[in-house]
Amino acid sequence: MEKKNYSKIYRIMHWLMAISFTLLLFTIFLRLTWLNKYNVADIMKDFLVDTDQTLSQDQLIKLAKKIRQPMWDWHIYLGYFITGLFVMRFALPFFGKMKVQNPLKMELSWKDKLKKWTYLIFYVCVFISLVTGLIIEFGPREYKKPMESIHILSIYYLIPFILIHLSGVLRAEFTWDKGIISRIVSGNNKEEN
Ligand code: HEM
Repeated sequence: MEKKNYSKIYRIMHWLMAISFTLLLFTIFLRLTWLNKYNVADIMKDFLVDTDQTLSQDQLIKLAKKIRQPMWDWHIYLGYFITGLFVMRFALPFFGKMKVQNPLKMELSWKDKLKKWTYLIFYVCVFISLVTGLIIEFGPREYKKPMESIHILSIYYLIPFILIHLSGVLRAEFTWDKGIISRIVSGNNKEEN
């Protein structure tokens, strides 16, 4: 199993990705829970009933979406930011930095192969999420619905990836690769990658 040293660029890119994906996940979490349009509409409905006022379900949902919008704008900003990071991640190898991980190398251990396949599949899924997200924002209207139905599936790879990734890193730290966490945080004198 190879023990890697992470260059400054690798570490900066990694933590920018880690933080922005975590924030993105938080916006999805808010949309599915506290700021869910049906929940918010129900809260407003209860209030209106108590105060002898009414709004149609359609109006309530429209209002709920307006309340959610400023939070959701951050999902979209993060999407643009991650698009930039994604382009940078795959442009950097052309400048000799942050090589793309190749799982097909024969000499790799099965653990390294598995890890590299996980990253590759993750990046393919991220690519699909980014493209569908950008088409929802900028593409023709008729593509909006089909793109949305693909885009919302992102949650099914993002959460498992983070869980697998974190448990893999923790297992490595406590078994065969002691110090991996401090190396991805503060690097090492010998820089490569
Ligand atoms: C405390 C949290 C985290 C720690 C300690 C951590 C640690 C690491 C380490 C040590 C590596 C290098 C593994 C290797 O040698 O191949 C790595 C790579 C990676 N991490 Fe994390 N990670 C964290 C959170 C995240 C999160 C939240 C994401 C995004 C959802 C993420 C995405 C990635 C990706 C995509 C790579 C591969 C980078 C590449 O080579 O292209 N990490 N992480």
